[in-house]
Amino acid sequence: MKTLRVVLALVLLPVAAAFAQSAPRVEVFKNASCGCCGGWVEHMRQSGFEVITHDVGDVAAERKKLGMPERLGSCHSATVDGYVIEGHVPAADIRRLLKEKPNAVGLAVPGMVPSSPGMAGPRTAYDTLLVGRDGATRVYASH
Ligand code: CU
Ligand code: CU
Repeated sequence: MKTLRVVLALVLLPVAAAFAQSAPRVEVFKNASCGCCGGWVEHMRQSGFEVITHDVGDVAAERKKLGMPERLGSCHSATVDGYVIEGHVPAADIRRLLKEKPNAVGLAVPGMVPSSPGMAGPRTAYDTLLVGRDGATRVYASH
């Protein structure tokens, strides 16, 4: 019986860890009236993230509070695992960020690019930027 319990623990522990890893919680700050924000939230949920949303009057003020430079701004700001996610960032880039854990503020897709997750419109090329603690950016992924 004792052996069985140990075996079960050994089997279930990695499963629990993998589940925790597959569903980190994302907190989104957006305007109540923002339709494409809802589209991005759906994209994140479908990609396995747990998402909670906060409707705020002033997204720019939240962005500032979170330490995301205004010039990189989009329609919503989000947090996950200590990082800030600005705008319509693909879930795959966020998964990579959480795996690689770079020393950075987070990721941004400035503006509102057509065809980015949650956005309608014609296929448009865009970059996901890694935002450094000094506000400098580098291309993290190209889409
Ligand atoms: Cu948007
Ligand atoms: Cu948005």
